[in-house]
Amino acid sequence: MDTLLFRHATDVDAEKVAALHTESWRDAYRTIMPDWYLDGPIAKERVNLWQSRFSTSDPDRQHILLAESGGKLVGFICVLLDEEPQCGAYIDNLHVLPGLRGNGIGRRLFAGAAQWVMSTEPMWPIHLWVFEANIGARRFYDASGGEIIEYKSKEVLKGIEIPSVLYIWKDLRQLLFNLTRRSGGSL
Ligand SMILES: CC(C)(COP(=O)(O)OP(=O)(O)OC[C@H]1O[C@@H](n2cnc3c(N)ncnc32)[C@H](O)[C@@H]1OP(=O)(O)O)[C@@H](O)C(=O)NCCC(=O)NCCS
Repeated sequence: MDTLLFRHATDVDAEKVAALHTESWRDAYRTIMPDWYLDGPIAKERVNLWQSRFSTSDPDRQHILLAESGGKLVGFICVLLDEEPQCGAYIDNLHVLPGLRGNGIGRRLFAGAAQWVMSTEPMWPIHLWVFEANIGARRFYDASGGEIIEYKSKEVLKGIEIPSVLYIWKDLRQLLFNLTRRSGGSL
């Protein structure tokens, strides 16, 4: 893999982010979400989501961090401050290109998101929802010291509920420590 570069996304990145989002869902959620959705409407829906997110959201209240390698998007994370503020900053998406998972990209994106939250809302925790059956991502969150505070079936598509888990990180300094300790303290 070429050197990784990290940068903030802007509206011109909407289609690239949507394409990676779609590819990652098709791979990671193949046995979790219905095929008709993954093979059909998801692609257009993701484009709509990212175009709307870039055009309507307050840029100071969201953080979309991209990881690129050789000029290609290989991962991204999105943090929203005002989506579920009762649990702190909300990570709505964290995705790494299927062929490049397990190389530390997710860890570095997560650390970048945590650093941004610490500088923007220093006292806030971070939380996210993950599908109960998404074992790979849950291992990543467990290894990062995430605490499970709720299990709930969430309606992700009209009429389709999927069992999900709410993870929270209350101490972001500890989170950063957990994310870096396997690599000798560096990111
Ligand atoms: C979850 C995800 C973002 C993690 O990113 P990544 O780049 O693969 O993860 P990293 O390489 O940074 O892994 C860091 C640690 O997490 C753990 N981990 C990550 N993926 C794992 C997996 N599939 N199985 C087991 N452990 C895993 C490992 O302990 C790893 O530590 P190590 O490198 O010291 O062994 C990525 O695997 C992904 O995109 N998954 C599919 C999409 C998804 O489910 N997103 C989350 C939605 S809530």
